[in-house]
Amino acid sequence: MKEIERRRTFAIISHPDAGKTTLTEKLLLYGGAIHMAGSVKARKVSRYAVSDWMEIEKQRGISVTSSVMQFQYQGFCINILDTPGHQDFSEDTYRTLVAADSAVMLLDGAKGVEAQTIKLFHVCRMRQIPIFTFINKLDRAIKDPFTLMQDLEDVLGIRSYPINWPIGTDGDFKGVYNRQLRQIELFTGDRSHGQAIVASTKGSVDDPVFKDLLGEPYYSRLVEEIELLDMAGDEFDLGRVLKGELTPIFFGSAMTNFGVSPFLEEFLKMAPPPGSRVFGDKVISPEDQDFTGFVFKIQANMNPKHRDRIAFIRICSGVFQRGMEAIHSGPEKIVRLAQPQQLMAQEREVIEKAYPGDIVGLFDPGIFRISDVLSARGGLVFTGIPSFPAEHFARVSAKDTMKRKQFLKGIIQLAQEGAIQLYKEPDIGIEEFIVGAVGVLQFEVLEYRLKNEYSVDLNMQMLPHHYARWIVSSPDEPAKLNLTSSTRIIRDSRENYVLLFENEWSIQWAKDKNKGLELSDISP
Ligand code: G4P
Repeated sequence: MKEIERRRTFAIISHPDAGKTTLTEKLLLYGGAIHMAGSVKARKVSRYAVSDWMEIEKQRGISVTSSVMQFQYQGFCINILDTPGHQDFSEDTYRTLVAADSAVMLLDGAKGVEAQTIKLFHVCRMRQIPIFTFINKLDRAIKDPFTLMQDLEDVLGIRSYPINWPIGTDGDFKGVYNRQLRQIELFTGDRSHGQAIVASTKGSVDDPVFKDLLGEPYYSRLVEEIELLDMAGDEFDLGRVLKGELTPIFFGSAMTNFGVSPFLEEFLKMAPPPGSRVFGDKVISPEDQDFTGFVFKIQANMNPKHRDRIAFIRICSGVFQRGMEAIHSGPEKIVRLAQPQQLMAQEREVIEKAYPGDIVGLFDPGIFRISDVLSARGGLVFTGIPSFPAEHFARVSAKDTMKRKQFLKGIIQLAQEGAIQLYKEPDIGIEEFIVGAVGVLQFEVLEYRLKNEYSVDLNMQMLPHHYARWIVSSPDEPAKLNLTSSTRIIRDSRENYVLLFENEWSIQWAKDKNKGLELSDISP
């Protein structure tokens, strides 16, 4: 119970460039996991690449170490999950957020809510997890804080409650005022440019020393703004925060470290410890004695030298011990959980024990799939990760027919990781596939990874289809159905028949012309 209570597992969501890498690094700095900021950041390569994902992937290994980071702070054990930097809505992001118990939404104070923030916010909403807002880059001129609060409400439809309020916002950021403690904290910059923890002075707002330190204009502005907030703003309600209806706001500068520790301390108090997860008709609570965990991410070739593949497991209940045995759902076979990895900031570490809320990476000899369950008793199915229907399709083959073997290996591997959905056209050999994706960027990722990890150049031809429908029941065999000329009959990786349609009109046509034909947009 003690181990569960002190755990906090969360993801940071943000638009590229808002400062996610910088903030993550500063949290590690405050947690003592790194001693000098700059070590994580320095490895981030040049920007403006096709996507953040590829940018990071260019230096493989970084994503390994930044997939999950664990550190300790004031008795808490913190797990930060890295959300993939895809620009599209992606299934990966959803899966990562299923493993998190809360999210930190990071905004650039000068920009407010941006396009990618909106998408990621909605993914969190679907999961109904608490969302904490950190408004960053206060060392520069930012939008008026009241306008930013209005932005959250207008664009995202969420009410907010500033836990702290900035003092000096026009590029002259001095500190924050904690509304609940009625306390001012002023920071003193040093010469390390944010590489080291900053010093601060803390005390009651009523202490006359702050009036002197801040000077009359800043002090009276603060008093005025606080009065306005107390009068016109929402009341703090932890229940609403936990339901994801009210977002607590923090202000700070990840670059200078001003506001980082006040955020971390209050966030840790409010953020929920590991919560229950639903497995079919069973709810597994973290306090359950028996071990349970599910696979939310699979990543191959994290280290090109080793060609390894790691399955990331979120522990939901019980205690994980190195070398323990668990029942693997699906085949319901016993597997030994050897060589568990915890992926720390800098290096992989073999772990002996882990608790609910923790993420462990297991070496995967190719047996795991997304959503698989590992449990002490077996018989569990994890239903928390929905599969989103693909909306874009392309036909792919290897440019060089001599590379057929690598092509096959790579494409199957990436489908198992959940990077793309894989289909076949009947009567066509293994040299050609149809791939499906929720966002078009996934195709670029596919092309890039096949080239870099399997040395295969792809021929890719986009298809005009946007709807995949599985045949649930049919009056006739698929080839004999009466379909529009553009409709394609394909099969998924488990040999189920799927119809690919260009538009909704042709789906209706198929149903009208074939009495008894039943279709589903979810794979059986
Ligand atoms: P990301 O992971 O969200 O994409 O953002 P990242 O941390 O890489 O930050 C993007 C840029 O914003 C970087 O500047 C970074 O230094 C800057 N930044 C992050 N936090 C703050 C902050 O609190 N204040 C200010 N003023 N800037 C901040 P860059 O010029 O692109 O890179 P660099 O040369 O500084 O490394």
